[in-house]
Amino acid sequence: METYKRFPVSLKKGKGSWVWDDKGNKYLDGVAGIATCSIGHSNKSLLRALSRQLKKLQHVSNLYHIPEQEELAQWLVSNSCAESVFFCNSGAEANEAAIKLSRKYGHTKRNIEKPVILSANSSFHGRTLAALSATGQQKYHQGFEPVVEGFNFFDFNNIDSFTTLFESLEKNGPKISSVLIETIQGEGGVNPANKGFLKMIREVCTKNDILLIFDEVQTGMGRTGTLWGYEQFGIEPDAFTIAKGLGGGHSIGALLVKQTANIFTPGDHASTFGGNPFACRAGVTVGKEILRRKLLTNVINRGKQLKEGLMNLINKYPHLLSQSRGVGLLQGLVIREEASITSIDIVEVALKERLLLVSAGLKVVRFVPPLTISKNEVKELLKRLNHCLENFA
Ligand SMILES: Cc1ncc(COP(=O)(O)O)c(C=O)c1O
Repeated sequence: METYKRFPVSLKKGKGSWVWDDKGNKYLDGVAGIATCSIGHSNKSLLRALSRQLKKLQHVSNLYHIPEQEELAQWLVSNSCAESVFFCNSGAEANEAAIKLSRKYGHTKRNIEKPVILSANSSFHGRTLAALSATGQQKYHQGFEPVVEGFNFFDFNNIDSFTTLFESLEKNGPKISSVLIETIQGEGGVNPANKGFLKMIREVCTKNDILLIFDEVQTGMGRTGTLWGYEQFGIEPDAFTIAKGLGGGHSIGALLVKQTANIFTPGDHASTFGGNPFACRAGVTVGKEILRRKLLTNVINRGKQLKEGLMNLINKYPHLLSQSRGVGLLQGLVIREEASITSIDIVEVALKERLLLVSAGLKVVRFVPPLTISKNEVKELLKRLNHCLENFA
């Protein structure tokens, strides 16, 4: 079905930060599957581990214990604030699990008849019906109404907006069971949260026994220079969702919870493929590779280099570009509102320069290369981007 407006390129192979099309053209990959191929294309450790896993065991049902799933769960809880994990196959599914968890928490722990979830305007939580309903962007709802009830929206980074919504809903007794929020809005334009804003939400949630759930689907697994986005803000959620970078390009998602939110019991939730041996082997390999190769340091250094380079381009093209936003290797280059071009225009010209980029809304170009990208490759990315921008000067 025509659900994607595709660029006229057919990609055939990849290695590290590079991909090749069917005509043999070589592209520098600033997209990485949209933040999925965290340790680069065709990574040797992943290849070896997954080949071995394919020969050993590919899939069994969650009716049985799965050692690879237990290994990945152990790695995740050892390296985060969480104590338990549910595995699924994608970011939207992870958020579906979080939404169900939130409702169950409201019913069983708080005695709320119709639990409400607060989420942010300009957020993105996925395309399944409930994740879509949690997404604070009208354009994704259009044509699919009625959306799922039980979601209310506040303005991101706006304490007044959050407080007003919170107070108006809770006026005649508790209704809110959780707050679902990205630490850095990705799809919505690469908007990092303000520390004070997240801290305020954390305090309100703690005081009122409301679950704070972070959507770390895009920010998790080292993308920001810490393993989890929340570490950038010095606060911890009660639960968080991950996917994208976890499998290094293979389908896997997860909901991670602290003990207080560990309320699912047998039969509450399930997934046929969730946590299968192959996907979990991918997750374990990616996690260990991030730590073994000290990729978080690379993300910090390459992120700085990229940001500096973007700032130089903003100074060079001030009539086109206004600012750069982001943390680590999740960066956005903002096009001036009054400029006649959109992010898609830049992405299209970049493709001709053999550079893969992706937009985050109409006025932001997003950079989410593999976490393994080298200094020279970032230099090359900026050089190609400069060539693109010359077209619009
Ligand atoms: C923050 C966030 N949440 C959820 C999703 C949905 O993930 P998936 O496409 O794996 O369902 C995305 C995807 O872009 C995302 O960026």
